[in-house]
Amino acid sequence: MSTLNRTRDTALRERAARVVPSGMWGHLHAAKLPADYPQFFSRGEGGALWDVDGNRYIDFMCSWGPNLLGHHHREVEEAAERQRRDGDCLNGPGEVMVELAELLVDTIAHADWAMMQKNGTDATTTCVTIARAARGRRKVLVARGAYHGAVPWCSPSLIGVTAEDRAHLVYFRFNDVESLEAAAAAAGDDLAAIMVSPHRHDLGVDQELPTPEFAQAARRLCDEKGAALILDEVRAGMRIHAAGSWEPLGIRPDLSAWSKAIANGYAIAAVTGAEHLRRAASEIFVTGSFWNSAVPMAAAVATLKIVRRDDVPGRLFKLGTMLREGLATRALQYGVAIRQSGPVQMPLILFDDDPDFSKGAAFCNAAIQKGVYFHPKHNMFLCAAHSEADITAALAAAEHGFAAVRAQV
Ligand SMILES: Cc1ncc(COP(=O)(O)O)c(C=O)c1O
Repeated sequence: MSTLNRTRDTALRERAARVVPSGMWGHLHAAKLPADYPQFFSRGEGGALWDVDGNRYIDFMCSWGPNLLGHHHREVEEAAERQRRDGDCLNGPGEVMVELAELLVDTIAHADWAMMQKNGTDATTTCVTIARAARGRRKVLVARGAYHGAVPWCSPSLIGVTAEDRAHLVYFRFNDVESLEAAAAAAGDDLAAIMVSPHRHDLGVDQELPTPEFAQAARRLCDEKGAALILDEVRAGMRIHAAGSWEPLGIRPDLSAWSKAIANGYAIAAVTGAEHLRRAASEIFVTGSFWNSAVPMAAAVATLKIVRRDDVPGRLFKLGTMLREGLATRALQYGVAIRQSGPVQMPLILFDDDPDFSKGAAFCNAAIQKGVYFHPKHNMFLCAAHSEADITAALAAAEHGFAAVRAQV
């Protein structure tokens, strides 16, 4: 039974249902979340957010990734505000675009150049376009079930998508070298690119870290065939390693797509690339009315400097380890079998014998009553503004969650 006030949320859902198709689009529709979850939010501060009825949550979705340092991070907000006073959307970019590109090139190990866009989908699509332009080839290898954005070539839904939109995708299984090799063979001389996320973070299944053999095979196949290795860093970027999520593996991509966390919540994406793709990147036509917007660029410059200065991935690793170990201990205490997977900075909790995620929903519904916002089947995110006290509070809320799951079976 929910103890949370939902008066304003309910009223807003009714109004939205009249003027927005189905009230909300995409994966953020509250119908896709546990029953007690709100649809509408009013504000965020640090690692917390408030819904429209004034309920406060310690937030483990972090805006689904963008909130990296905490909402209203002082240095990021000051940088954005300075730029806002000068101008945001002008006839062309400001000096800040060059500053951001320089910083990306200096920070990201494989990068010799950078281009800016707005959303992650813009960045992944631009990467594919550059790779195809480079050699005049068509085929792109993607892992089955991986998410690379929400336009016809990559959307997880086939509604409104034609077979032609997908005609040149060839699928492989993440971490399966044989299937990657088979997909590359099927693409033959027409192989433009292999696109892959740094780790497997598909919805509703255990996350998988890449095996070194798999990452090496992806690099080797691209080298052998003259194709581009594209790393989709949109979700993981800046949480695992500032220089690139595959740096610890010693594998560098030719192109990377970035968005979400790079400007701490401001709307911006980026493509970074290696020297040999500079010409293709300058020949394709890509643009957007807001791609030169200067405020998010200023926010990105401030964010990236902080990521480097404060070793944000290291901080998230520490917090994430505390959360993971605490959850494991408590799940054992309550006799509930859970699986935690993926990097600790991006936790995912799944329950054994839970095909319809009803245990996950019971866990989350109980935790949200205690002011903690978890997700039952999508990877979550930590931010640097979370404190050790937040993790302790989250673990206390998780105990209620585990008790609810135990009561269900
Ligand atoms: C791995 C990955 N690639 C691409 C995208 C698309 O980004 P956007 O929603 O900003 O277009 C996402 C978004 O969640 C993502 O997680």
